Amino acid sequence: MAAHHAPTMAVPTDAQLIQAQADLWRHSLCYFTPMALRCAVQLGIPTAIHRLGGTASLSDLVAALSLPPSKTPYLSRIMRLLVTSGVMASHEEGVYSLLPLSYLLVDGISIDGEASQVAIVLAATSRHYLEAALGLSDWFKKDVAPPLPAPFEDVHGATILEESMALLDPESDKVIHEAVAAHDNMGIGTILRECHDLFKGLESLTDCCGGDGTTARAIVQAFPHIKCHVLDLPKVIERAPRGDGSVNYVAGDLFHSIPAAQAVMLKLVLHFWSDEDCINILSHCKKAIPSREAGGKLIIIDIVVDPSSSGQILETQLLMDVAMLVCTRGRQRDENDWRSIFTKAGFSDYKIVKKLGARGVIEVYP
Ligand SMILES: C[S@@+](CC[C@H](N)C(=O)[O-])C[C@H]1O[C@@H](n2cnc3c(N)ncnc32)[C@H](O)[C@@H]1O
Repeated sequence: MAAHHAPTMAVPTDAQLIQAQADLWRHSLCYFTPMALRCAVQLGIPTAIHRLGGTASLSDLVAALSLPPSKTPYLSRIMRLLVTSGVMASHEEGVYSLLPLSYLLVDGISIDGEASQVAIVLAATSRHYLEAALGLSDWFKKDVAPPLPAPFEDVHGATILEESMALLDPESDKVIHEAVAAHDNMGIGTILRECHDLFKGLESLTDCCGGDGTTARAIVQAFPHIKCHVLDLPKVIERAPRGDGSVNYVAGDLFHSIPAAQAVMLKLVLHFWSDEDCINILSHCKKAIPSREAGGKLIIIDIVVDPSSSGQILETQLLMDVAMLVCTRGRQRDENDWRSIFTKAGFSDYKIVKKLGARGVIEVYP
């Protein structure tokens, strides 16, 4: 006799079924929005609108982009989706203008330095990212011994930001590096303006995993009295622009030694590492700073997943977390996760100083 299971929920009403069907279509097809965005970026639509004075009709765009006029009605359908999803604005039928989001996709724009975010769209919608995401269910079924490869490594046999990716596909590797640079470099100006107290009174700072020193140079420009060290791998430090010598570059490995300073900053670093690695990194950071009484602290800039955030910010944080799951061995953390790794690394206290969009700024005290 077949086992009798109690129904898990009542059969939906007609109204609920109609709504559920529409929602299912949306959830299954919403990946066309980033595809339309990719198409717009590859055609150069945001840059064309900008060059046309900030507003462009469909026929202006078709002419500026040298598209066949027969494609005009199709372009109108892509633009309609982008307007509805908040990428572009349209205050008059068939006439489009930029929003702050699409302004970030204009070639050559500068906001506290180079600001174009085109590479993020191209990397996130690339064949390599999509194929990695398609491999997610197969990855879940495999029971492999740690260290667990990310689905990206599982599918492609290569790791993002490592030599293996450059060997697999140099063009994609370049786009991924550009995307990470665009992601990392945008926002330090806002942080310096909004979180002045974070740096005020600091005598010295080590920007741990500070890349080519873009962030450190911006800090020293705003706070010239801070003696700033930038620690990164030798291959990165070799290529860093030395400029005016305002920053001290140190080639090394954060798992071995971190240059001593009153504060150590980890900006967009820890989300790339597992909890175990983070505890190890944080313990090394603790050795590099003085006591809390002597002003010792860590400055962490990273996503703090916050279930009480507005719906769109939370969704962004969760999408960034699944992006880390699919492509790296890292993760995004909520406040409990952060507290747990701070405590395990021997820190006594922390304060979330500011939330800036999807990211948070945290001070951690020894
Ligand atoms: C996502 S980037 C950090 C971005 C930078 N903090 C910023 O906000 O612009 C990660 C950096 O960590 C560096 N890195 C990776 N492993 C490292 C290690 N073992 N020691 C030092 N730096 C490392 C990479 O070379 C890269 O520059």
